[in-house]
Parts: sequence; structure tokens; C-alpha cells
Amino acid sequence: MFAVTAARMSPDDPLSALELGDRPEPSPPEGWTAVTVKAASLNHHDVWTLRGVGISADRLPIIVGCDAAGVDEDGNEVVVHAVIGEGGDGDETLDPRRSLLSERYDGTFAEKVAVPRRNLVPKPASLSFEQAACLPTAYLTAYRMLFVKSGLEPGATVLVQGAGGGVATALILLGRAAGYRVWATSRSEAKRARALELGADQVFPAGGRLPERVDAVMETVGQATWAHSLRALRPGGRIVIAGATSGTAPPAELNRVFFLQLSVVGSTMGSRGELARLTRFCEQTGVRPLIDRTLPLALAAEGFGAMIAGDLFGKVVFTV
Ligand SMILES: NC(=O)c1ccc[n+]([C@@H]2O[C@H](COP(=O)([O-])OP(=O)(O)OC[C@H]3O[C@@H](n4cnc5c(N)ncnc54)[C@H](OP(=O)(O)O)[C@@H]3O)[C@@H](O)[C@H]2O)c1
Repeated sequence: MFAVTAARMSPDDPLSALELGDRPEPSPPEGWTAVTVKAASLNHHDVWTLRGVGISADRLPIIVGCDAAGVDEDGNEVVVHAVIGEGGDGDETLDPRRSLLSERYDGTFAEKVAVPRRNLVPKPASLSFEQAACLPTAYLTAYRMLFVKSGLEPGATVLVQGAGGGVATALILLGRAAGYRVWATSRSEAKRARALELGADQVFPAGGRLPERVDAVMETVGQATWAHSLRALRPGGRIVIAGATSGTAPPAELNRVFFLQLSVVGSTMGSRGELARLTRFCEQTGVRPLIDRTLPLALAAEGFGAMIAGDLFGKVVFTV
């Protein structure tokens, strides 16, 4: 079958680690099933894999891609939950042995992907395969950040750093639909304008002065925006952090954290139950994932290139 593979690790030239071509079809073990992939979406995780972050050389080559929507062996339209737990029915993100598709098991950028049966969530008929393929990583991460980890009540003010990203656009759409006042920053004027169109209440240049302090900040940029995030919070406010694209080691400014009694809360992906509730949230509110571009899987390198260049507003989707 045709697939997109991380063949090696290349920290400085991730595109050179990408290989497109024939790979064996999966043979699902007991309790697993094969999904015929209709659409798959790109995440920064896939770029990290090519760079060799979060994966060891002995796992390569591996098919990349965490997210997919497709059809199961019984003909049902499904969304694939990307978090693979290794036991128990609890929150699989807290399982110390858990992995994401494409870390230990082949990922979704292929004609077929093998997944545990329990990882299949019904795809709402009102979402296209392309829209549904955006949900399992970026939208699920945004859902947990906003609705499980932030402690925010509707009407609260939330700042989203780096408005153009897949997670960031999801935060704006979901936060707005839930009745939060959503403010967003971006380095790009064009992306700030698009964030307003998407439903942000106000937008600011990266690091820009805010008219008042916010209740919570949603962080996925990391080092480049961390100092601004700390300064943006009201006393007792909370940063929810799920990523650090620009670097992981900004000054911690511990004096600010304790003196203003700030909380810093980590968040990763979400549970299968949260993914099911996210699909329902989309149905009930009419929110649809924002897609920057849709490409055939054979042109995957073009999508990766745009993400590496930071030249995106929303998700890149590959059709199979
Ligand atoms: N913990 C989890 O479960 C989880 C899940 C999903 C994603 N993540 C992580 O979250 C991060 C975002 O993921 P994504 O898929 O949304 O990636 P993405 O689509 O590539 O996000 C890129 C956005 O980050 C901002 N950005 C990047 N570098 C920046 C810099 N130096 N200074 C300021 N802003 C910068 C940009 O915002 P502007 O151009 O608008 O300024 C850009 O739009 C990644 O690091 C990813 O690994 C974690």
C-alpha cells in the first residue's frame, strides 16, 4: 500500500527524512482492526518525528501520522483515537506505556492503519472525512486544555498564543463556541486578521500589551511566548501548556509564579471519551475544524513544508 514514512532522523532538514512509497499492509493483532483511511491530518508531532524528537532510531522506518478518519472492517465511518494505551480502561494519556500512533505503531499516512478496536469513535455524519480527520490530536488537545484543564467558566477571558497553529485555531473555535472571550496573538498581521474572522474577540501582535489581564493562557508556542504568558495572567490565573514549538527552556520566573499565585498546568491529548464528546460538541454547536489546505497524500511533502515554514492557518489534511 502507499504510505508516508519517516525513514531516518534529520534534526535540521526534516523533509529529507520523509519517504513516500510502498509499504506492507498492516496485519492487526488480536483486539485490533484495520481502518481504511479516507483522510488524515498533519500535526507538528509528525515534524518532530522527522527531526528525531520523541522517537528512537530503532523504531524507524515508521509510517507517520497520528490522525485519521476512515471506514472500519464492518463498513462504519469512524474517527481514530490516536492515543494507544497498553492496558486498563482508565485515562490512557496517564498510562506510562502509552504512545501515539506513529511512535511505536505505524501511523495514519497510509491507505490502511491498524488500531485497537476500542480506539474507534463513530464519525458524525454531519462532518466530512476531512473535517473529522482534524479532531483526534489538535482539536482533542484544545478540548482538554479548555474544558478539562483550564478551570474557566463561560464568559471568562482566555488568551491563545500563536493564533495560526492547528491547536491554536481549534482553541479559538471551541473557546468561542463555549462562550469564552477569546483573545489571540500572532506574529503575522494576516493571521491576526484571520483569527478575528474565526471568532477571536481581540487580537494582538506576539508579545503585545493587553488591555487587561486574562483568566487563563493557552500555550503551545513555548519559549518565544512564555514571558508574555506569565505577564498576561491576573493574580491566581492559569497557564495551560500543551506544546513548546519554539523551545522548552524559557526563564521560569518563579518569583512571578508564587507571588501572583499562578498555576502552570500541563495537558496532553485527551481520552477516548473526550474525543467522543468533542465529536458531539461539533455536532451540537456547528463548529467545524478549520482546514488550511487539502492535498492528496502523494503531495504530503508540500504540507510538511508549509508547516515547517510556519505558513499555515489551520490544519493540513491529506486525502487517501
Ligand atoms: N501535548 C499534546 O498533546 C499536543 C498535541 C498537539 C500539539 N502539541 C504541540 O503543540 C505545538 C503546536 O502544534 P500544532 O500542530 O498546532 O503546530 P502548528 O500548526 O505548526 O503551530 C504553529 C504555530 O505556532 C506559532 N509559532 C511557532 N513558532 C513560533 C515562534 N518562534 N514564535 C511565536 N510563535 C511561534 C505560530 O503562530 P503565529 O505564526 O500565528 O505567530 C504558528 O502558527 C507543537 O509543538 C506540538 O508538538 C502537543
